[in-house]
Formats: sequence, C-alpha cells, structure tokens
Amino acid sequence: MTKKIKHFIDLDSFSKKDFRVLLDKCHTRKNSKIRKGNAELDLDMCAEDKILAMIFEKPSTRTRFSFETAMLQLGGKTITASSNDMQLNRGETIEDTAKVLSRYVDLVMLRTNEHSTLIDFASESSIPVINGLSDRSHPCQVLTDLMTFEEKRGKINGKIVTWFGPGNNMTHSWIHAASLLDFELRICAPKKFSADKKIIKKALNEGAKIIDNISPEKAARHSNCIVTDTWFSMGDREDASKREMLKSYQVNNKLIKLAEDDVMFLHCLPAHRGEEVTAEVIDGPNSHVWDEAENRVHAQKGIIDWCLSD
Ligand code: CP
Ligand code: NVA
Repeated sequence: MTKKIKHFIDLDSFSKKDFRVLLDKCHTRKNSKIRKGNAELDLDMCAEDKILAMIFEKPSTRTRFSFETAMLQLGGKTITASSNDMQLNRGETIEDTAKVLSRYVDLVMLRTNEHSTLIDFASESSIPVINGLSDRSHPCQVLTDLMTFEEKRGKINGKIVTWFGPGNNMTHSWIHAASLLDFELRICAPKKFSADKKIIKKALNEGAKIIDNISPEKAARHSNCIVTDTWFSMGDREDASKREMLKSYQVNNKLIKLAEDDVMFLHCLPAHRGEEVTAEVIDGPNSHVWDEAENRVHAQKGIIDWCLSD
C-alpha cells in the first residue's frame, strides 16, 4: 500500500479533530519528557536520519533557524538554499525541481512569493511539502501563535482574537484557524486593504465566527488576544498613502487598555516599532512575542513529526 503524503500547506485542509491533534502535539513537544531541555535532543528522535530541504525565495530569520534547530534536535539534518542559487533561477521548472528533490531528501519546506509555486511543487512531490510562508498564508506561524496563546491562557475556544492592520498571509491563516477552533476572530483593517473576501466567505460558510469591518475601538473591547503584523509584507511596495491610512490601526496602549486586562499581544516578527505597534506595547507587560518566537521551534517539531508519521 502506498503511504499518503502529508503536506502542510494550509490549515484549511485539516479537519477540526486532526488539527486539535496537531496543536496538542506541539504542546507536548514543548512540555513533556519527549524533550529534555533547550539545545538538547528530543528523546524520541522522530526525524533521525531524515533530511529536510529548505528553499527560500524571500528572506527569513525565525523560519530558517527554528526549522534547522527543530530538525537537529529531532535527530535530522537540513539543507538550505536560496532559490536564486538554484537552477530555478535559470528557468528549471518547479515541478522538475520537486521530482529531483524527492529523490534526495525526506521533506521540503518552501518560502515562496506565489502560493501557486507551493501547489505546483506539491503536485509533483513524493515527499511532504511544508509552507514556510507564501503570499497567501503563513500556517506555521499561526499554529505557533495558537500554541502560545493556549500555553498561557488555556484552550482558545470561546476567546476573542483581534487582528489589526492590512489583510495579509497571516490574516488568512488566522481565518483558516477560526474555522477549526471555536474562537471569535475580529478583523480590523481598512476596507481598501481587507483580507481576501473569498477566504472569509468560505470560513463563514464553515461556521467560523468572524467579524470583519469593525472600528479599532470596538474591535479592541474585551479582546483576549491582539495580533498585528508589518504594514508592508515582503514583496509589497511601500507607499506613503497606505502608511497614512493605517495610522489608526496601530496597536498602542489606548487600544490595549480597551481589551481584557490580561490581553495577550502577539506579532509574528519582524516588527516595526512606531508603525504597526508602539514600543510600549511590544516591549510591555502584555507582549508575549519572545515566547512566541521561541515556540516556532516547538511548533515546527510538531509539524515535522506530523508530516513524517503515518
Ligand atoms: N515570523 C517569521 O516567519 O519570521 P521570518 O520571516 O524571520 O522567518
Ligand atoms: N506578512 C509578513 C510576515 C513575515 C513573517 C510578510 O509576508 O512579510
């Protein structure tokens, strides 16, 4: 019998039950005796002798180093390349690249400009493919964010998560998550820069509790978690009028004070103090961004374990 290839491309391919299992796997990786401590190997070595290839079309700090750390601690190895240094840069197709890498390594992580590149790679890959960020989504990061919220506040079900800023890859993965876990997602973005309406509509049809088009003050009220991201994603053109329009969506102490006292501030990083968030918020008591960054390692382990398991 041929083994089913388990790609981790978007959260919306998961059932609620399977997603809960994955999220719990991430918690277990961090908390249980599976792991001995920082910089030590995981006892089960679930990626022993496995190789993860990572291809980057865009820069990365957290995704690259957390995947490398995770693989090393799970007993595996990594090979990392920028797509510029590959024959991809000279016109070799992504499908041919997938066929070749499938003969060399055990799983592959791609960070792509276009989401379709991931899909095209996966269509010819006989090994699991992990989305390390595309223009459409960033599922590894949102899995980490859910893990960070839950380890400090308990299950996210029934809570209010509020997104501030333009709709982007992070917003889309949060929308996917809202279909899988029973929390309310408020999206506070200017109409001109709203999240993809098709992704919102699909989630609403699946029963997700999503409130779109809400004013910043209303959105912040009673929030349990406030999330933002850069106003200009990698590949976006920086423009002064967009920056001006986004000023009232900045996460500052005025908004934090409207939320629950223990509201958790999350940001996938890199951050731009004075733009999407003030220094007093990101460096203040409600911010959990450093634990969030650490949790990328634990969540990647959960993903790698999930991809490699039957
Ligand atoms: N949050 C995140 O994905 O960071 P990098 O771009 O540094 O990988
Ligand atoms: N939305 C950001 C996330 C960076 C991790 C970007 O795509 O640049």
